[in-house]
Formats: sequence, C-alpha cells, structure tokens
Amino acid sequence: MPAEIPIITVDGPSGTGKGTVCSYLAERLDWRLLDSGAIYRVLGHAALQEGISLADGERLAGLAGRLDLDFRQSNGGIRAILAGVDVTDAIRTEAAGAAASQVAALPEVRAALLAIQRAFCRPPGLIADGRDMGTVVFPAARLKLYLTASPEERARRRYNQLKQKGIGVNLPDLSTDIRQRDARDEGRAISPSRPAPDAIVIDTTNLDAGEVCNRVVSLVQSTFHKLPLKN
Ligand code: C5P
Repeated sequence: MPAEIPIITVDGPSGTGKGTVCSYLAERLDWRLLDSGAIYRVLGHAALQEGISLADGERLAGLAGRLDLDFRQSNGGIRAILAGVDVTDAIRTEAAGAAASQVAALPEVRAALLAIQRAFCRPPGLIADGRDMGTVVFPAARLKLYLTASPEERARRRYNQLKQKGIGVNLPDLSTDIRQRDARDEGRAISPSRPAPDAIVIDTTNLDAGEVCNRVVSLVQSTFHKLPLKN
C-alpha cells in the first residue's frame, strides 16, 4: 500500500488568518499549498469575463472543466495564471469574492472542482486552505483546523489587507459584504462552511498572526511526530 500523504486542512471564513497560517506552515514544512478559495475566485472571475450567469450551474461546471489555470511560485508568493494571464490581483477584489461565493453554492460547480483540488495532494504533504477541506475534499486528513474570529475583527483585518494592496474600500460596505458572504457560505445546502466533527477550532479574535502560527505549530508537532520543520 502506498504511504499515506500527510494532509493538514485549515477551514473557516475569510479574515480569520487562514491564508497567513497556511503559507507559514507550507513554508516551514516544505509542503504543497492548496488555496481552494483562489480556484473558486478564478472561476467567478472567468464567468464574469465570459458573460456566464453566476447561477447557471451547467455552464459553470463546463467552464470549470476547461479552466486553463496554473499556480506559479514567485518571489511575492503564489501567482494565479488563467489562460496565460496573471489574474492574482483581479481575483482578490470583493467583487471576485462575491462571485466566487455565488458559484461555490452550486453543486455542479463543486463536483467539477473536486478532482482539481484533490490533485494537489502529492508528497511530501499538503496544506489545504478553504471552507470544506476537512469535511468534503480531504475528510481523512490527519490534522483539521477551523479558524474563527468575530465579524468585526474580520472586517477590520480585510480592510487593512485591501488598503495595503491599494484597493479602495470602506469599512461599512466591507462588513455588509462579509456578512452576506458568511450567510451564503454557511447556509448553502452543499458543503456549507463548518468545522468537521474532528476539527480543532481556534478563535483568533484576540490573537495576532504570530500567536496563531505558534499554536498551530504545536498542534502539528503533537500530531505528526518527528516531522522536520524549517526555521
Ligand atoms: O477563501 P476565499 O475568501 O478566497 O474564498 C472565496 C469564496 O470561495 C468563499 O466565500 C466561498 O464561497 C468559496 N469557497 C468555497 N469552498 C472552499 C473555498 C472557497 O465555497 N473550499
């Protein structure tokens, strides 16, 4: 039997620090990183570009099946390349996030993206960032984390992130967007965003990024004994 490829899933809503924790872990463990949200964002972005309705499950699943998508490692992190065009910045807008959340509610789309996500699992290990990584995509993962934070704190973090990137937003609009996206992601019939029964939930509201990373590293060490960690 082939050796099990170790997987750590990190789920939870946006603004909880998942991205930071996942990049940190991928770096220290030298494992692959799956940013599943980026795949939903690329699909939403491609649908808007091609004029496909965000409610048309059949056409969106077709689009998902022929997505010419590549993730490339660069100095500034991972870049998303769609049909040869760098869409990394385009998919980070709130509009792309809202489009992602709409297409993500459709069962045909989720089914079409399942194999693409699972193909990321290769040795030596995988860090999977998303909403349903621990519940649906990698239910056998050895370590499952679910990050939460209060909606106010998450809106504040997103606001600072977007401002840093030079993307103009206002806090009240952002809070409304976040609440709408949460309601859709948590309330949808298929793969709602929720912790797996065996997930460890970490409330990051009063923790800074370093504290969350330290806590997660301790959990990694106690789950996977003798795993080499880079400094
Ligand atoms: O994580 P991120 O904010 O980039 O995800 C964008 C949207 O993609 C989420 O709001 C959610 O609707 C969807 N998503 C999902 N399942 C995942 C990852 C993201 O439904 N595993």
